[in-house]
Amino acid sequence: MAKPPTLIVHINGRATTVDAGSVVSAAILAAGVPCRLSISGAPRSALCGMGICFECRAVVDGIPHCRTCQLVCRDGMTVGTQR
Ligand code: FES
Repeated sequence: MAKPPTLIVHINGRATTVDAGSVVSAAILAAGVPCRLSISGAPRSALCGMGICFECRAVVDGIPHCRTCQLVCRDGMTVGTQR
């Protein structure tokens, strides 16, 4: 079986290679960083994976509070985890 094509997504300024078709929350997880920090500073990441819990919010292409479990990666996309 052929390996899927890859894309480059910039997560907190670091170029990260992901398989085409990956959702952004998976790319963030693969990069080893949380999607955001809670008000108390606790790391938060994707929980439900289906757009309900809002735990996976991050800044995508400059837009804050994007639910990253609902976004498919694009080549050159910029993702910033939220504070
Ligand atoms: S993981 Fe729950 S909304 Fe994205």
